[in-house]
Amino acid sequence: MTTATRIRVRAPKRLAGAVEVPGDKSISHRAALLGAIATGRTEITGFLEGEDCLHTLKALAKLGAVVTRKGPGHYLVDGAGLGGMHEADDVIDCGNSGTMARLLLGVLAGQPFWTFLTGDASMRSRPMKRVTEPLASMGATFIGRQDAGRLPLGVRGARPLRALSYVSPVASAQVKTALLLAGLWADGPVSVTEPTRSRDHTERMLAGFGARLSVDDRTVTLTPGAELRGQGIAVPADISSAAFLLVAGTIAPGAEITVSGVGVNETRAGLLDALESMGAPVGRSGALLAAGEPVADLTARSATLRGAIIGGAMIPRLIDEVPVLAVAACVAEGRTRITDAAELRVKESDRIRSIATELAKLGARVTERPDGLDIEGGARLHGARVRSGGDHRMAMALIVAGLVADGETVVEDTECIGTSYPGFLETVNTLAGGRCLAEELA
Ligand code: S3P
Repeated sequence: MTTATRIRVRAPKRLAGAVEVPGDKSISHRAALLGAIATGRTEITGFLEGEDCLHTLKALAKLGAVVTRKGPGHYLVDGAGLGGMHEADDVIDCGNSGTMARLLLGVLAGQPFWTFLTGDASMRSRPMKRVTEPLASMGATFIGRQDAGRLPLGVRGARPLRALSYVSPVASAQVKTALLLAGLWADGPVSVTEPTRSRDHTERMLAGFGARLSVDDRTVTLTPGAELRGQGIAVPADISSAAFLLVAGTIAPGAEITVSGVGVNETRAGLLDALESMGAPVGRSGALLAAGEPVADLTARSATLRGAIIGGAMIPRLIDEVPVLAVAACVAEGRTRITDAAELRVKESDRIRSIATELAKLGARVTERPDGLDIEGGARLHGARVRSGGDHRMAMALIVAGLVADGETVVEDTECIGTSYPGFLETVNTLAGGRCLAEELA
């Protein structure tokens, strides 16, 4: 992405309506990856056609899977099987996607050839040792910047890899997934123990593809030997994208917003618990199970929020929602403390710094802490010029802040929204009754 765009936002008269949001980013990456190493065909509907997941599809095609687009969000992935991937003829571009880079490294650790990965400036600054070190201990070889700690990276896999029992210092589904995927080519079980549980989409999907997997509290163990079989996967709507609309529906006066078909997996749905603890329960209806994931329609209504303490085991369940939750905290009554969230510093941007700096420009009272934020509620936000820093979730959180601020807010660097939520702006405008309250500026 090279062109910088800006979005101008004003407060709407009212936000209301029922909308859909694109497919879940985490589940889309996993569906493509597992489809590519399975035997037979995987048919994916609801696939997120954001830049991050499209980069994953391109990479898998370079490595030997056959990817066919049948329509919007509808793909067929004819898998190479566990033994059928081949060397790519060029460097693989991970764009802005940490999930793609780390999960793919897990697969590549089991492929006996060299592959080279790079990404955009943000991606090249993100820590990779959290996966390269344990994967190297299984037998894969890495070369790269900062002692194989940053992209660009080269990886040469080995087969078989060594079995591993790994205690992860971070609750990271990316680390857990990379190691479990590598375990498919190991000579014995691979187990990962996390400090607190991270999202479990990989465990659910691997089991659906036929892998042998067991879960015991915070430890997941994959026993290699089973072949993966292609599946049909209906990707639920992304709760991390719905989050922007649900928070807007909670904090905008007189609002009522329904988002349908949203994935509400317990390991991802911390936002709903946080909003409830702040006095704004989100309504749920139409519960069903799709591709092993619980799905529901969610309705947010305008409410008076109160501050809360958000930390501990809750953090991995809402880690990507902190930027927009911070916006809710600014207008809540009383103080909100977000703690145990140092991981936010190594996301697409340093989100702790970015939230504190940018929301302050809108009149919020936010104090940065090493592992979180203190936010004094009751702020009357006023329009200002703010920057996303190239971080899609910061851009959308700042637009939501602009929806409840007095006057006009201009959010700079908004092209990044396309990494996870193409169509966000159109949906916000639909909810405002077609009035163009958020628009792109030249
Ligand atoms: C993701 C895991 C989380 C999350 C990211 C997606 C995944 O990262 O922040 O957006 O799909 O596994 P970590 O695993 O680094 O916590």
